[in-house]
Amino acid sequence: MYTVNIEQWHTPVTIRKGTILEAALSQGVPYPHNCRAGECGNCKARLLSGQVSHEPCFKEALSDTERGEGYILACRAIPKTDLDISWIDSQELEDTLPVKQMTGELVELKPVAHNVSKLGIRTDDSPLAFFPGQYARLKFKGLPERSYSMANIPNEQI
Ligand code: FES
Repeated sequence: MYTVNIEQWHTPVTIRKGTILEAALSQGVPYPHNCRAGECGNCKARLLSGQVSHEPCFKEALSDTERGEGYILACRAIPKTDLDISWIDSQELEDTLPVKQMTGELVELKPVAHNVSKLGIRTDDSPLAFFPGQYARLKFKGLPERSYSMANIPNEQI
């Protein structure tokens, strides 16, 4: 069992197995994250001390240069020792694109693979601004809310 001290959190996280992010979330830490799969980079942290094994991830989420500078992805990093880390301040991102609740209309529903469909949503408000890798939580009447990945590029009209 290892202990992870997170600079922005008052209580150490204990980890028996798995990633830093899994342990942090299971212990109530509001750790910034998104995809949980090494794709978005939202869980990026600076490793201040200790060692981790790091599962594969997308270069867009964590470049070789960043790795060399001591950054890790909490959703990919498994402690090999006790750790001290500091997550990257996502305040700038949140200030730029704050979480927003919108309503809209489903204007397209097209199967593109046996288990994938393309949805077109026309929002009632201004178009939804987003960064690559972000997702939207959609709720359709009578169905549970779930996450959907954007397939269009930012600012592209559908
Ligand atoms: S949560 Fe997306 S890269 Fe870790």
